[in-house]
Amino acid sequence: MIESLDASALPAIPAPFWFVQFFKVLGFVLHMVPMNLWFVGMALAVLSYGRSGPARAWAERLGLQMPVIVAFGVNFGIVPLLFVQVAYPWAFYPATIFTAWFWFSIIILLIFAYYGVYAFAFGLKAKTEPMPTWRYASGWITAGLFLLMGLLFCNGFSLMAAPDHWKSLWLSHNVAGAATGTAHNFADPSLWFRWLLMLGLAMLTTAAYTVVDTGLFVSANRQEYRLWATQFAWYLGILGAIVTGVAGAAYVWGTWDPALRSHMTSGARLPLTALTAVSPGFTILALTLFRNRVPNATAALAVGGSQLLVLALNAVSRQVVQNLELAAYGKVWDIPQSPDWDAIALFLVAFVFGAFVIGWMLSQVLSAAKSST
Ligand code: HEM
Repeated sequence: MIESLDASALPAIPAPFWFVQFFKVLGFVLHMVPMNLWFVGMALAVLSYGRSGPARAWAERLGLQMPVIVAFGVNFGIVPLLFVQVAYPWAFYPATIFTAWFWFSIIILLIFAYYGVYAFAFGLKAKTEPMPTWRYASGWITAGLFLLMGLLFCNGFSLMAAPDHWKSLWLSHNVAGAATGTAHNFADPSLWFRWLLMLGLAMLTTAAYTVVDTGLFVSANRQEYRLWATQFAWYLGILGAIVTGVAGAAYVWGTWDPALRSHMTSGARLPLTALTAVSPGFTILALTLFRNRVPNATAALAVGGSQLLVLALNAVSRQVVQNLELAAYGKVWDIPQSPDWDAIALFLVAFVFGAFVIGWMLSQVLSAAKSST
């Protein structure tokens, strides 16, 4: 049992509690959309490149978009990272210092993965048949690196939520009291279920994105591709929903403390937990509705909107669970608040400006895609 912190005696956080929680969740949803696309989409793109017809065309579309997807996802990841550090420095730093070698290796792996994404994308762009072997191999290595980096994120965040593991990890991984950073949380089943849960969600997101991309950007006269895309999205979505359901059930029933489970299934949290559990069904329903139709803007909106809701519900539930898991050690809602309104105003202005620029960039992509059809 770990000794708990008196959260009310911690240094004040520089923003209201609700503000930190809101932007952490929002940032994580924004991170998850592109992250899901490289987590699963990169492997599927290199796999489908080896096939012919529409599958090959799908691989080319996603592979060529991947450099931009990675740029968005990495930048959006910074938002929740900052708010994690503001809200729980007393939990985030112990976990990532004990696992420092694994944690920091993400930066090195990400640099290699980013080069790999470009190597594969430029191979697609050059249209040489077949693509040079080293470029194709880079695609495969990159897909593996993304799956591995996902595991390393789960390693850090599952340990952050398990303060009762820290002392024994520190005792077995220190030199004269200084943590060596070589500890890991791979023996904790929750790490693997979190990874599998994200894998399932990533399949659903990749399926939904296929409909969004086809509905909004693919020329109306490419009927064969458009019909194939809805079928492919449906199969991938079903697989994603199964993986999400199995991993989610194993995570909740196999690794949660009974007190946490009863907390998440009582009072106002019950509808949230129930909605989160059934939410993949929304995306499946939307994918099924448009399954045998040529995707258009309505299909894109319905399927994309459903999957955004799935990710948002998961992010909110995850946030509540994270707060409750850490509550035995320190109650985040008890930490004093001393809002620095100047800094908050600056953040909000930059946020609105950033959102405006992204909206403008997307509208340019949309009109360029329309004028090229
Ligand atoms: C430097 C770029 C990145 C940053 C700043 C970043 C940031 C984050 C943050 C802050 C979270 C936790 C959010 C929360 O608890 O609210 C997270 C979760 C996650 N990220 Fe990223 N991320 C980055 C790149 C990646 C990459 C390359 C992958 C590879 C697939 C990845 C996969 C994941 C996964 C799987 C989770 C969930 C972890 C869990 O549930 O335990 N991220 N990321």
